Amino acid sequence: MMQAIRVHEPGGPDVLTVDELAVPTAGAGEALVRLEAAGVNFIDVYKRTGLYRVPLPATLGEEGSGTVVDVGSGVAEVKVGDRVAWAGVIGSYADYAVIPVARLVPLPAAVDLAVGAAVMLQGMTAHYLATSIYPLREGDRCLVHAAAGGVGLLLVQIAKHRGAYVIGTAGSEEKATLARDAGADEVILYARDDFVAETRRITGGRGVNVIYDSVGRTTFLPGLDLLVPRGMMVLFGQSSGPVAPIDPQLLSQKGSLFLTRPTMGHYTATRDELLWRARELFEWIADGRLNVRIGAEYALADAAEAHRALEGRRTTGKVLLRPRAGAPQ
Ligand SMILES: NC(=O)c1ccc[n+]([C@@H]2O[C@H](COP(=O)([O-])OP(=O)(O)OC[C@H]3O[C@@H](n4cnc5c(N)ncnc54)[C@H](OP(=O)(O)O)[C@@H]3O)[C@@H](O)[C@H]2O)c1
Repeated sequence: MMQAIRVHEPGGPDVLTVDELAVPTAGAGEALVRLEAAGVNFIDVYKRTGLYRVPLPATLGEEGSGTVVDVGSGVAEVKVGDRVAWAGVIGSYADYAVIPVARLVPLPAAVDLAVGAAVMLQGMTAHYLATSIYPLREGDRCLVHAAAGGVGLLLVQIAKHRGAYVIGTAGSEEKATLARDAGADEVILYARDDFVAETRRITGGRGVNVIYDSVGRTTFLPGLDLLVPRGMMVLFGQSSGPVAPIDPQLLSQKGSLFLTRPTMGHYTATRDELLWRARELFEWIADGRLNVRIGAEYALADAAEAHRALEGRRTTGKVLLRPRAGAPQ
C-alpha cells in the first residue's frame, strides 16, 4: 500500500486527504516510480479549487522525481534503477506514481533528485518563456511579475543570461532581495508602490518589450500600458485570480500589442523538445549558471500546509513534498 494526497471534492486546502491506496502497476509504455520529491505548483491549487476541472477523486501533483522500480511492456527509454523526473502528468503527490515513459527525463549525475523535481515544471516554463515565446535578446527590457516565486527566480536568471534588462515585482522586501540576488536589475514592491509608475520611471518612460505575467487579475490590464508598440504580453498564470475577457481592439489601441496565453504542454509537445529544454536546464545547473532555490519542503501528509503557504504568498522559489521524509533510504 502507499499514501496519496487526493481531492474528492473541490475546495480549500482542507479538502486534501491522505488516502491509503494500492501501489499502481505500470502498463505498456509506462514506468512505476518510487517518488523522492513531488513539486508543488500553482496549477495544483487551480485543480484543487476546481478552477481547472479534473475527474475526481484525483491524486494531485504534476511534477516529481524518483527511482524507476518497474517498467511495463515495450519500454526502452528507462530501466529499473534509473533516476528520473517529469512534469505535466497528474498524480505525483504520492509514494509511487505510474508515468508514461515518453514524459520521463533521465537525471544526469550532477542533478540530485530534489533539484530534479524542483526544476521540471517551473524550469521548463521559465525556459520556454525566455527562449521560445519571446526569445529575449541583448538590449530587451522585460518585466517579470512575482520574481521571487518558483518560476520567477528561474526566469530572472535565464533572462539575465540572455542579456535582457530585468525589472521584477515582489510582495515583500525579503522577496525583493531574493529577486535582486537572482540578477534582477530593479525590483518593485508592487503591494506598496504602483508598478506602472515605477516601471515608467525606471525605463525613462520607454516601457518594456515583454511582460511575463503570472499574477493575472491585479496586474494584467495595467501592464498593457507599459509595453512598447508591438510589445508582447505573456499571460501565463493567474495567482491573483483569472483575467476578465477583453476586446481585442484594446491591443490595437495600446500599440499593436501581441497577447499570448501559453501552457507548458504545448512547449514540450514532442520528446525532442522536452529533452532539449531539460538538457539545457541541467547543463546550466551543472555549470552554476542556474541556481534552483528550494524554499520549503513538507512531508507528503502536510500537503495542505504547503498549499496554504503557496496561496498565502508565504513561499519563495520551489516548494517540495517529500514522501520519504524520515524514512530509511
Ligand atoms: N502557463 C504555464 O505553462 C505555467 C507553468 C508554470 C506556472 N505557471 C503559473 O505561474 C505562476 C507562478 O507559479 P509558481 O508555482 O511558480 O508560484 P509562485 O510564483 O511561487 O507563487 C505565486 C506568487 O504569486 C504572487 N501573487 C500575487 N498575487 C497573489 C495572490 N493574490 N495570491 C497568491 N499569490 C499571489 C506571490 O508573490 P508575491 O508575494 O511576490 O506577489 C506568490 O508567491 C502561477 O500563476 C502559475 O499558474 C504557468
